[in-house]
Amino acid sequence: MNKLKFKAAVVGFAALALGLTAVSASAQCDSGEVVVKLSHVTGGTTHPKVVASNNLAERVNKELNGEMCVEVYPNSTLFGDSKELEALLLGDVQLLAPSLSKFGSYTPKLGIYDLPFLFKDMDQAIRFMTAEKGKELLNSMSDVGFVGLGYWLSGMKYFSANKPLLVPSDAEGLKFRVQTSDVAKAMISAMGASPQPMAFAEVYGALQTGVVDGQENTWSNIYTKKFFEVQDSTTETSHQVLAYLFMTSTDFLESLKPDVREKFLAICDSVTMEANESVKAKEETNKQNIIKSGGKINELTPEQRKEWVDAMKPVWKQFEKGIGADYIEAASKS
Ligand code: SIN
Repeated sequence: MNKLKFKAAVVGFAALALGLTAVSASAQCDSGEVVVKLSHVTGGTTHPKVVASNNLAERVNKELNGEMCVEVYPNSTLFGDSKELEALLLGDVQLLAPSLSKFGSYTPKLGIYDLPFLFKDMDQAIRFMTAEKGKELLNSMSDVGFVGLGYWLSGMKYFSANKPLLVPSDAEGLKFRVQTSDVAKAMISAMGASPQPMAFAEVYGALQTGVVDGQENTWSNIYTKKFFEVQDSTTETSHQVLAYLFMTSTDFLESLKPDVREKFLAICDSVTMEANESVKAKEETNKQNIIKSGGKINELTPEQRKEWVDAMKPVWKQFEKGIGADYIEAASKS
C-alpha cells in the first residue's frame, strides 16, 4: 500500500469509530487501479459485517496495490436496502453483503435461511453453508447476473419489544418490523402479530416513534444500531439465523483481468473464512455490550421455547415448494 492510501485508510477507520459516514473517497485509489465500491447497511466498529468489509478492503488494497482498490461505504451511506441490488446490476457498486432475507424478488430458494428454528445454532448454519447444497445456493441467482462469493454469518436472531416476549401469545396484536421476506411475514402472522417490512436504516426511528412495537435481529445489530435503547427487552429466542450473501455481479467479475480476478477471489475466500471463524465471539461481545449499557435480556425455559417452535413450524410447509424439500432436509441434517 502506498503512503497516500495508508493515510486515507487510517482516516477512514477513525471516521468509522466516530460513527461518521463513508470510509473512503476516490482520492485513495491510484489512477490505473480498478476501483471497487463495497456498500452495506450496518454500522459501529464491532459488527461482523463492518469488520469483514474493512478486512477485505485492507487486504485488497495491500495485496493488489496498483491493480485494485476497494472503498467501503457502511451504514446505507451509498445505497440502502431498497436500491443496492439494482445498483449492482447497473454497475454503480461492485460488492454488497445483503442479508439473505432480502432476495425474495429474485429467488424463493434463499428463503431457507428464514425458516424459523431450522438452524439451531450458527454451527449448524455453517455446516450447511459449506456443504454441497449450501454452496449451490450461493449461485441461485446467476440467471439475474448475481454471483455469490461467500456467506458471511452475522448471528442468531432474537425478538425485542416493549414487553417481555416469553411465549408467542405475548406477541399477539403487536406490529413487528421485518426484512422484505415472505417467510418472515408468515412467521410474524403465525404469532398473531402483524409484519411491517421496512428498510434497516428506518428501524430505530420506527421503534422510537411507535410505528412498530418490536423487531427481530442479532446482538450485533441490536447493539450497534442501539435498538435496545428504544425497546424494554430482548428475548433469547434464536429463532432464525441472520447471514449475508457477500456478492458481486457477473459483469464485474468478467471485466477483471484473469490474474487479478484469481487473486481477488482468493482474498475473498480467506476474508470469508476468517469472518465466520470470529463471528461467535463478536456476537458475544455485542451481547455483553447491550447488558453493560443497561439493555435487558429475557431467557426462555425449555417449555417456553417449545411453544415458539410449535407455533412457527407450520410456516415451513408454506415455503417448501419454492425452497425445495431436498434443501430443507439437507439443512435439517447438517
Ligand atoms: C443487516 O444486518 O445487514 C441488516 C439486517 C436487517 O435488515 O435487519
